[in-house]
Amino acid sequence: MGRVFAIISGKGGVGKSTLATALAEYYASQGKGVVLLDGDTGLRCVDLMLGLQDRVVFDLGDVAEKKCEIDQALIAHPALPGLRLLAAPQMMSASDVKRKAMRRIVNEISGQTDILLMDAPAGIGRGFKNTLGNLAEPVIIGTPDDVCIRDVERVAYVLTEMEEPRPVLVLNRVDRRLVHRGVMRAPLEIAKSLDIELVGIIPESQQVYRALLRGEGALDSGDLQVVSAVEVIAARLLGADAPLPEYRYSPILRFFNRRGEA
Ligand SMILES: Nc1ncnc2c1ncn2[C@@H]1O[C@H](COP(=O)(O)OP(=O)(O)OP(=O)(O)O)[C@@H](O)[C@H]1O
Ligand SMILES: [Mg+2]
Repeated sequence: MGRVFAIISGKGGVGKSTLATALAEYYASQGKGVVLLDGDTGLRCVDLMLGLQDRVVFDLGDVAEKKCEIDQALIAHPALPGLRLLAAPQMMSASDVKRKAMRRIVNEISGQTDILLMDAPAGIGRGFKNTLGNLAEPVIIGTPDDVCIRDVERVAYVLTEMEEPRPVLVLNRVDRRLVHRGVMRAPLEIAKSLDIELVGIIPESQQVYRALLRGEGALDSGDLQVVSAVEVIAARLLGADAPLPEYRYSPILRFFNRRGEA
C-alpha cells in the first residue's frame, strides 16, 4: 500500500492546492508513482494548475457513482510519467460523494501507487471529512497570522475528536525579513505553541504568485527557496531527516530596523 496524505486547512486560500500540486510534481520527478486527487468537490482547480483541464473526461463523482472505472478517470500527465490526476466533480456537492465510495476509491488507488495526495476543500465540513476518515495522514497548512493559526488549532482539535492520526504542519507565505524583525511570528515558535510537528516552511514569493497567474505551478516559479522548501517537505513526509530552513527573530536586525525608522 502506498502512503496517503490529505492536505487540509481551516482557512481558505492558504496554499493547499499549490502545495499538493508541487508535492505531486516533485515526487513524480523523483520517479515515484503519484496520484493527486482533487477533493474540492464543486470547485475543481488542480486540473488547471497542472494544465490538464482539456483532458478531463471522468471525475471523482463518476468514479464514486461507478459510472466508470478508476483507471478510466485517472488523467496521465504528459510531461511527468508517474503523475496522474483524479479531477473533482464540478456539478456535485461534497455530500454527494458517499463515505463508503471514497473509502473504496482511496483503497484502490493507494494499492496501485506509491503516493496518493488528496487536496481537500477549506474548512471542516463534509469535503474535509471525505478526505480523512482514517484514510490519510493529515498535513495541515497555514499562514503565520493569528486568524489562520487559530484555525490550525481548531482543525487539529477536530482531528483528535475524529480519532485521526496526528497531523503535521506546513507554514506557507512566511516572510524571512518580517520574522527577523519580530513582526511575524517565527515558524518553530508557532509549531511549538500548537504542539504540532513542523515539516515545512514555504516563503512568501512573488514568483509563485506570478507562476500561478501564468497557469504554472510553484516548482516552475524559478524561486529556488520555494523549490527547496517543497523538497524538504517531500522528504520529511516520507520520514527523512531533511533540515528546515532558518527563520528566526533577530534582535540585532530589529534594533537596526528601529534606528532606521527613528
Ligand atoms: N508561497 C506563496 N507565495 C505567494 N503566493 C502564494 C504562495 N502560496 C500560495 N500563494 C497564492 O495563494 C493563492 C491561493 O493558493 P491555493 O489556491 O493553493 O490555496 P487553497 O488553500 O488551495 O485555496 P482554497 O481554500 O480556495 O482551496 C494562490 O493563487 C497563490 O497565488
Ligand atoms: Mg484549493
